[in-house]
Amino acid sequence: MSRNPVESKLGLRGIVAVMLGLTWGMIGGCPVPQPDGDGTTPKGNSGLTGKFVGSARCSLCHVNAHTNWSQTLHAGALDTLEAMGQDKNPVCLPCHTVGFGQAGGFVDRATTDDLAGVGCETCHGAARDHVENIEDRSLRPTVSLSSALCATCHQGEHHPQSEEWAESGHTHLQDAVADGMLAGSTSSVQNCGLCHSGDIFNEVQVKGEAIADNAFVGRQKADLNPITCAVCHDPHRRTGNAAAPDEGRDFQLRFREVATPRATNSIAAATDRTRFNLCGQCHHSRGRVWTETGRAPHHSNQSNIYVGEMPMPAGQENAPLVFSRVSVHSFAPEQCATCHMFRQDFQSEVAPAISGHTFAVNLASCAQSGCHPSVGQARAVQATLRAEIDGRLANVRRLLGEPAAWEYSSAGGPEDQGTVSDAVKQARFLYYYALNDGSKGMHNPAYVRDMLLKAEQLLQN
Ligand code: HEC
Ligand code: HEC
Ligand code: HEC
Ligand code: HEC
Ligand code: HEC
Ligand code: HEC
Ligand code: HEC
Ligand code: HEC
Repeated sequence: MSRNPVESKLGLRGIVAVMLGLTWGMIGGCPVPQPDGDGTTPKGNSGLTGKFVGSARCSLCHVNAHTNWSQTLHAGALDTLEAMGQDKNPVCLPCHTVGFGQAGGFVDRATTDDLAGVGCETCHGAARDHVENIEDRSLRPTVSLSSALCATCHQGEHHPQSEEWAESGHTHLQDAVADGMLAGSTSSVQNCGLCHSGDIFNEVQVKGEAIADNAFVGRQKADLNPITCAVCHDPHRRTGNAAAPDEGRDFQLRFREVATPRATNSIAAATDRTRFNLCGQCHHSRGRVWTETGRAPHHSNQSNIYVGEMPMPAGQENAPLVFSRVSVHSFAPEQCATCHMFRQDFQSEVAPAISGHTFAVNLASCAQSGCHPSVGQARAVQATLRAEIDGRLANVRRLLGEPAAWEYSSAGGPEDQGTVSDAVKQARFLYYYALNDGSKGMHNPAYVRDMLLKAEQLLQN
C-alpha cells in the first residue's frame, strides 16, 4: 500500500488546505472580535499582519497537532496570567505568549488573540512564509530537538529545568557514538544511537521510523542532540503518562512513568524496552549473558536490576544464576523519578525551586515519599548498604585475581577465553552486572547481595 506522505501526515482537511494554500493568504485572518469567558476582554486578530500568523491558522492543516496542543498548559499559558491579574505585566508576557515584544508578536487579546499562550510559532518560528508557500521546502518552519528551545523559558529560580538538565549526564553524547554517526557507521546509527542519541531515539523509538546509516553524514557534531527535553517530553500533547501530576497538570511524558513488568530472565525480555517505564526505554540491558567473552554487561541494566532479573543464555532462563526478587524500592510511587527527580516548588530566593532535572539522587525524596522517617535515617541506611556492597565487590574482585587470567578479552583478559572456566565466567558476569548498575545495591539491595554472594561461592569452590 503506497501512502502519500503528505496525506498521511495532514489528513484530508490538510490536503484541501494545501491545494488552497496559495489563496489562503488572501482569504485568511478575518477579525471578528469574540467575547471571552468572562466577557470582559474582546478577542480578535486584526493585529496579525506581520510574520506571525497565530496557532489557529496552523490548525487548518496540522489538525492533530493543533487539537492536541490546545489541551496543554502551553496553550493556556496566558489564561494562567489572566487568572491572577498579571496578563498586562510585560515581565511575564514574553514566556506566556508568542513573540511578545517582537515585531508582529503578541500585543493583547483584542488584536492578537491567536498568539496567546505558548503557541506553535514559539517553537517553530514565525511561519507566514510557510503558510503562504506550502510547497516551498526552503520555507518550512524549523523543527529542533535542542534543549536551547525550551531554555528560553524553562530557566530561572522558579523553573530551573534547563540549568539542572545542563548539569546532568543527559547532556552528554559519547564521542565514539557521535563520531560514528557522522561517519555513517551502522553500529552507531542502528545500535548505540538508539539510546545515546536524542535524534535517533526520537526517529526510531518514538516515531517508529527507519533511519539510514548516512542520515548524519555532513552534519556538525554540535548539531547532534543528546537526551534533550523533547526526547522525554512530547511538546504537543498531554499523554496521561505521569504517575502523580500535580493538580491540572500532565508533564507530557512520552512514555509511562511507572511500569511493573514481571521479572523474567530471557534475553528477549531483558532487552524489550516496551516492558519498562520512561527511564527504562534506555536504561535496560543490552542482552549480554554470562557465556559472552568479549565484553562485560553494559552500564545500562538499571531497570532489569530494579525488577530483579538478568538475561540468561537460551535454555537457561528457568535456572538463573540468581533467583529473581524485587525490593520495596520497585514500588516507589514514581519509580526511578522518586529518587532521581526530587522536586520542590519555589519558596524564596534562598530556597528556589528544585526541578529534579539533574537526575542525581536527592535523599530528601526518601523522606518526602513517606518511606523513610527522615533524611538522616535514609542516609544512614544508604551508607550501611554501600559499605556492605563495596566490601563484597572488593572481595569478589580479590577472589578473581589477576585480570590477565579472568577478564573479558576487550579488557585485558586472555585472548583464548577457552582457558576461563564457567565458574569464573559466571562470577565475572555477576560482578560487572552488579557494579555497572552504578547504584551500589540501592536499586534492589537483596538481589544485588545475592549476586555477589553467588559470585563468592563460585570462586571459592
Ligand atoms: C495550508 C496548509 C498548512 C498550513 C496552514 C500550515 N502548514 Fe505546516 N506544513 C504543511 C505541509 C504540506 C507541510 C509538509 C508536509 C509534512 O512534512 O508534514 C508542513 C510542514 C510543517 C512542519 C514540518 C517541517 C519539517 O521540516 O518537517 C512544521 C514544523 C510546520 N509545518 C509548522 C506549521 C506551523 C507552525 C503552522 C502555523 C503557523 C503551519 N505549519 C501551517 C502545511 C501547512
Ligand atoms: C515561550 C516560553 C516557553 C517555551 C519556549 C517552552 N515552554 Fe514549556 N511552559 C511554559 C509555560 C509558561 C508553562 C506553564 C503554563 C501554565 O501553567 O499556564 C510551561 C509548561 C510546560 C510543561 C508542563 C506541562 C504540564 O502539563 O504539566 C512542560 C512539560 C513543558 N512546558 C515542556 C516544555 C518543553 C519540552 C519545551 C521545549 C520543547 C518547552 N516547554 C518550551 C513556557 C515555555
Ligand atoms: C523566563 C520565562 C518566564 C517568565 C518571565 C515568567 N514565567 Fe511564568 N512560567 C514559566 C514557565 C517555564 C512555567 C512552567 C513552570 C513549570 O511547569 O515548572 C511558568 C509557570 C507559571 C505559573 C504556573 C504555576 C507554576 O509556577 O508552575 C504561573 C502562575 C506563572 N508562571 C506566573 C508568572 C507570572 C505572574 C510572571 C510575571 C511576574 C511570570 N510567570 C513570568 C516561564 C516564565
Ligand atoms: C513547546 C514547543 C513546541 C510547540 C508549542 C509546538 N511544537 Fe511542533 N515540534 C516541537 C518539537 C521539539 C518537534 C520535534 C519533536 C517531535 O516531532 O515530536 C516538533 C515537531 C513538529 C512537527 C513535525 C512532526 C514530524 O513528525 O516531523 C510539526 C508539523 C509540528 N511540530 C507542528 C506544530 C504545530 C502545528 C504546533 C501548534 C499547534 C506546534 N508544532 C507546537 C516543538 C513544539
Ligand atoms: C539499551 C540502550 C543502550 C545502547 C543500545 C547502548 N548504550 Fe551505552 N549506555 C546506555 C546508558 C543508559 C548508559 C548510562 C549508564 C550510567 O550512567 O550508569 C550508557 C553508558 C555508556 C558509556 C559510559 C559507561 C562506560 O562504559 O564508561 C559508554 C562509553 C557507552 N554507553 C557506549 C556505548 C556504545 C559504544 C554503544 C554501541 C556499541 C552503546 N553504548 C549502546 C545505554 C545504551
Ligand atoms: C530523561 C527524561 C527527561 C528529560 C531529558 C527532561 N525531562 Fe522534564 N520531566 C521528566 C519527568 C519524568 C518528569 C516528571 C517528574 C515527576 O514525576 O516528579 C518531568 C517533569 C517536567 C516538568 C513538570 C514538573 C516541573 O518541574 O515543574 C517540566 C516543566 C519539565 N519536565 C520540563 C523539562 C525541560 C524544559 C527539559 C529540558 C531542559 C526537560 N524537562 C528534560 C523527564 C525528563
Ligand atoms: C533516551 C534514552 C534515555 C532515557 C529515556 C533516560 N536516560 Fe538516563 N541516560 C541515558 C544515557 C545515554 C546516559 C549516559 C550519557 C553519557 O554519559 O554519555 C544516561 C545517564 C543517566 C544517569 C547518569 C548521570 C550522570 O550524571 O552520570 C542517570 C542518573 C540517569 N541517566 C537517570 C535517568 C532517569 C531517572 C531517567 C528517567 C526519568 C532516564 N535516565 C531516562 C539515556 C537515557
Ligand atoms: C530507591 C531510590 C532509587 C530508585 C527508585 C532508583 N534509583 Fe537509581 N540510584 C539510586 C542511588 C542511591 C544511586 C547511587 C547514586 C550515587 O552514587 O550518587 C543510583 C544510581 C543510578 C545510576 C548510576 C548513576 C551514576 O552516576 O553512574 C543510574 C543510571 C540510575 N540510578 C538509574 C535509575 C533508573 C533508570 C531507575 C528506575 C529503573 C532508578 N535509578 C531507580 C537510587 C535509586
